[in-house]
Amino acid sequence: MPERFLTRNIPAKREDRQTVSYETYVERGGYAALKKALMMPPEEVVTIVKDAELRGRGGAGFPCGVKWTFLPEPDGKTRYLCVNCDEAEPGTFKDRLLVDFDPHSVIEGMAIASYACRLDSVYFFIRGEWSEQAVIMQNAIDEAYANGIFGSQGLMGGASDFAVECTLHRSAGAYICGEETALLEAVEGKRGWPRIKPPFPAVKGLFGRPTIINNVETLAAIPLIIEHGVEWWKSFGCTSSIGGPASFGLKLMGVSGHVNNPDVFEIELGTTLRTLVEQYAGGMKDGRRFKGAIAGGVSMGILGPDQFDAEMDFDIGKKYDVMGLGTACPTIFDEGTDMVAVARNVARFFKNESCGQCTPCREGADWIYKLLCRIESGDGSMKDLDQVLEVAGSMGIIPGTTICGLADGNNWAVRTIINKYRSEFEERCKPYIVPVTPLTAS
Ligand SMILES: Cc1cc2nc3c(=O)[nH]c(=O)nc-3n(C[C@H](O)[C@H](O)[C@H](O)COP(=O)(O)O)c2cc1C
Ligand code: SF4
Repeated sequence: MPERFLTRNIPAKREDRQTVSYETYVERGGYAALKKALMMPPEEVVTIVKDAELRGRGGAGFPCGVKWTFLPEPDGKTRYLCVNCDEAEPGTFKDRLLVDFDPHSVIEGMAIASYACRLDSVYFFIRGEWSEQAVIMQNAIDEAYANGIFGSQGLMGGASDFAVECTLHRSAGAYICGEETALLEAVEGKRGWPRIKPPFPAVKGLFGRPTIINNVETLAAIPLIIEHGVEWWKSFGCTSSIGGPASFGLKLMGVSGHVNNPDVFEIELGTTLRTLVEQYAGGMKDGRRFKGAIAGGVSMGILGPDQFDAEMDFDIGKKYDVMGLGTACPTIFDEGTDMVAVARNVARFFKNESCGQCTPCREGADWIYKLLCRIESGDGSMKDLDQVLEVAGSMGIIPGTTICGLADGNNWAVRTIINKYRSEFEERCKPYIVPVTPLTAS
């Protein structure tokens, strides 16, 4: 069994895991990267993160250092960092591992990002259902304050005169609040409705001020890059095989579903799904055959039975007909899985979670769900199946009909399941009967 966590302070055995306190984190070399960063000009830290080509770990894979350069020059007024710890994407549980067991690695990343981008106010936005994790994170933030990381004296007990304050904000609990602009609305105390972009948050974000939104895992990678350097980071992962941007570094990948050992593993981008399942997650449960996998969070769509050797990197979307790598947390299905039931269940999720602002998403999600229920029950027709594909294919930012990507997630999940397992759907459908107008005697 390969090393499960190459760089994290997390034991391989689940029963040995416990939250790493501030003292233990420091004993193990923690906060050395922050100290190192504070000795550089802020722009140099931004350049390092840019050179490392760190891509966002929240789902979209946008280059982190490039996003940071979109900020305007500081004007002396408050600027924000929002940490996205909503993690409500079905099958995704990698950020929770960091919060549960290594919260100071995230806090160190937050402090470095704040210093580099001149962001003096941090909101840690945490998923509403995570009561236990909210307590763990608040304790870690309190420890960081008690040890001078945050607070009015300046970062790291005054090692820098740049002072950062940090607030934990618990979500009221809705999947859409993980979308970055819905998150901003939620922190402002409003209903979590995504905003139309532009303006982008870097220019006009929280309370109308410049704001960077980063995922928990993205921020936790930053101390590693500062401590070990750009070349070290780029020694992991891979360049693109299709001429696109590279997929450098290590990534937390959570595997769930029909495997013997569902868990989170820290591995190189570009590792195949087969390796992830067979060498890390203990293989397929009961030796059954692989049938497919939700690529990386349900929104990304499905990898089919012949795509077990797909490389888990940012090329995956273009190469294997899924939307993208997403959160890199696959859910594995074995040969006994009913894919019609999977599609119906996925559609139910999106129908329930649509915020309702855009008609194609609000109405389309409901139609898709109802049609799939009909097909699953054996009352559906081939016409219903075609209609699901037509409705799904017309909703989302990519077709240009909605404000946010939740609808694209519904589109890709449903369409790829139907396209890759079409015969299962057709077997459940009644034939496409063209209505014939009865002849009448004239
Ligand atoms: C419906 C929806 C839900 C999302 N949920 C999350 C989430 O739970 N956590 C997250 O980090 N990003 C989520 N995102 C992506 C964010 O909008 C954003 O891209 C991300 O937080 C940026 O951080 P990164 O660049 O560090 O990845 C979601 C996007 C959409 C469209
Ligand atoms: S796409 Fe759906 S979830 Fe996103 S803003 Fe529109 S209605 Fe809301």
